[in-house]
Amino acid sequence: MPEELSFDTAPRCNASSIRMLLENAGVMPAELAADISQIEEPLRNTLEQIPFQAPPKVRPNGVVLAGTTGVGKTYAMAALAKHQLLKKYAYGIPNQFDPANSPAIWRSVLDLVTEWRSMALHPADQERLFRRLAQADFLFLDDLGGEIKERGGREYDRGIAFIDRLIRARYDHYRSTSCTTNCTAEALIMRYGAPFFSRLQHMSMWIEFPRGSRDRRLRGKP
Ligand SMILES: Nc1ncnc2c1ncn2[C@@H]1O[C@H](COP(=O)(O)OP(=O)(O)OP(=O)(O)O)[C@@H](O)[C@H]1O
Ligand SMILES: [Mg+2]
Repeated sequence: MPEELSFDTAPRCNASSIRMLLENAGVMPAELAADISQIEEPLRNTLEQIPFQAPPKVRPNGVVLAGTTGVGKTYAMAALAKHQLLKKYAYGIPNQFDPANSPAIWRSVLDLVTEWRSMALHPADQERLFRRLAQADFLFLDDLGGEIKERGGREYDRGIAFIDRLIRARYDHYRSTSCTTNCTAEALIMRYGAPFFSRLQHMSMWIEFPRGSRDRRLRGKP
């Protein structure tokens, strides 16, 4: 198989196989309709240029979409997911019929940390979950920094340590990781620490929605 796929000439996965992959990845039904053609320039062009791991060891190979609520971060990440997966798996999807081993994972960070904490009495299950998250070709984390509201305390520290360890593991293996966040860079540093933020910025392109971007939920979508 050639190193660099030509998006125009590669035999495409059909729309239903990519939809199934996205569903198995955990993408919510509302986000399944997201399409990169609906994203305004220059963001659209930036997203289209993000490598999809060919050649495999390249940075950045994901994005951090930062901005206030309702500006379209989750929509843009879903559109990116579709775009990257279509390119990466143009020749076929590994484990296509096995949701437990999807090569791409999409999770809300709040749900993820809640699930991880619910396994507190089962460290082997926690480790299995961690390995799956750490090893997936693509990881899409929605709402980084939205996982635990109350600062301080053991639970807070454990949730933070879990996300920190996950990002470090993915960084070390050049695995494509994209996130959305309502946090500023400073807030992420406060929450997860400078080493975490340094790695995140190196592995995933920081894209900030401009201040004053409209809340699409309140003022219509177009
Ligand atoms: N480019 C777009 N074209 C069409 N609809 C869009 C687009 N961007 C966002 N939307 C719609 O606008 C609404 C808000 O977008 P989204 O959920 O992505 O915001 P968000 O920045 O993730 O907000 P939050 O921080 O609250 O999670 C959604 O209903 C989404 O489908
Ligand atoms: Mg969102």
